[in-house]
Amino acid sequence: MQAINASIGFDAKLWAQDIAGSRAHAAMLAAQGIITAEDERAIARGLDDIAAEIAAGRFAFSDALEDIHTNIEVRLGERIGEAARRLHTARSRNDQVATDFRLYVRDAIDTILAQTQDLMRGFATRAAEHAASVMPGFTHLQTAQPVTFGHHLLAYVEMLHRDCGRLADARARLNECPLGAAALAGTSFPIDRFATAKALGFDRPTGNSLDSVSDRDFALEFLSALSILAMHLSRFAEEIIIWCSAPYRLISLSDAFTTGSSIMPQKRNPDAAELARAKTGRIFGHLIGLLTVMKGLPMAYAKDMQEDKEPVFDAVDAITLCLAATAGMVRDMKADTARMEALAGSGFSTATDLADWLVRVLKMPFRDAHHVTGQIVRLAEDKGVDIAELTLADMQSVEPRITADIFGVLTVQASVASRTSHGGTAPANVAAQATAWLERLA
Ligand code: ARG
Repeated sequence: MQAINASIGFDAKLWAQDIAGSRAHAAMLAAQGIITAEDERAIARGLDDIAAEIAAGRFAFSDALEDIHTNIEVRLGERIGEAARRLHTARSRNDQVATDFRLYVRDAIDTILAQTQDLMRGFATRAAEHAASVMPGFTHLQTAQPVTFGHHLLAYVEMLHRDCGRLADARARLNECPLGAAALAGTSFPIDRFATAKALGFDRPTGNSLDSVSDRDFALEFLSALSILAMHLSRFAEEIIIWCSAPYRLISLSDAFTTGSSIMPQKRNPDAAELARAKTGRIFGHLIGLLTVMKGLPMAYAKDMQEDKEPVFDAVDAITLCLAATAGMVRDMKADTARMEALAGSGFSTATDLADWLVRVLKMPFRDAHHVTGQIVRLAEDKGVDIAELTLADMQSVEPRITADIFGVLTVQASVASRTSHGGTAPANVAAQATAWLERLA
């Protein structure tokens, strides 16, 4: 029973939140005349001493005492005697653990938000530096149209900004205090739930005692937001891995973020990126795991909910590492801009620019221009050259009205410079966007 029942092996992590909750509860009990001021002082002092013991690694956690709540309460009894046994008035471990866990998730959100913003700053800084560096833009991982490297990096700033929004939403919704819901029904003591909520930095107490002890949506919402964030980091990790590979060589990472091979001396493996990509799996797994734990539980608390902690703790560890590693790689990566630009021009990447020229100058309907451009691309393919390398006569053999002006739009530089529509890849747009983000994130 002890082996399956005890949670102290993992919930000891909640000691600071548990002590904060108990201090707020004791202060409220005294203010409401439910315990004496003298008992409250003894409890507060005792809890401070216990916090110091735990912080110094001098606290002996016991499996026999099941969880963090009982471990601390029993220790308090050893230290201060009878007053300790009054602390649990108008409280249950059910509202206690719900409070502790919300406090933990709230702190974790704050840390992760700060880290995500740091990563956004990293992306925006590199984007400003590479506002005019041309790279191949891909769809289907096939060369599509030239884009700027800065534009590509700013795409991640947009994603991460939405991730921050989701985390901030989750934080706002979880910031209600379950303390005082007691086991499930509330209490007959004249407690002041608004006071404990305020003391613990919550916006208000929760509204329904049954819901207070049985809701774990806040943890699920957090894991959902982390899953989407992790998915974004994984996509970027995948891009790093592709860009670093020998056939691409668009960027390189220094030894600080790569590892060597034990057999192939030339290797520089992007292990940090691979692990950031892989850790996404455990975060998704934890979301599905906890959803599954919760899905069949009748009101109100059930011990199943004790299984909520490890997945959340592990997800926090994983995302924290992934964010740090990604921020490191973003700052470390070195772009080979000459190669980027050369590759940007391959694969007939300016074919759309040619079609747009036919529309703009010859007033062709776009569908017809698309068809003519297709014929020109085929001609270039047959000759084994790029479209910019065809002669004017070659072009005119397909469409006689084409003039030499067309060559002006076939360079990758001209292509990106022309994409000035709102949100487009033009260097001027990208420089302005990067500056705006850096100001916003300062
Ligand atoms: N360790 C428990 C948990 O994590 C604390 C709440 C225990 N409540 C109870 N009724 N046994 O959920």
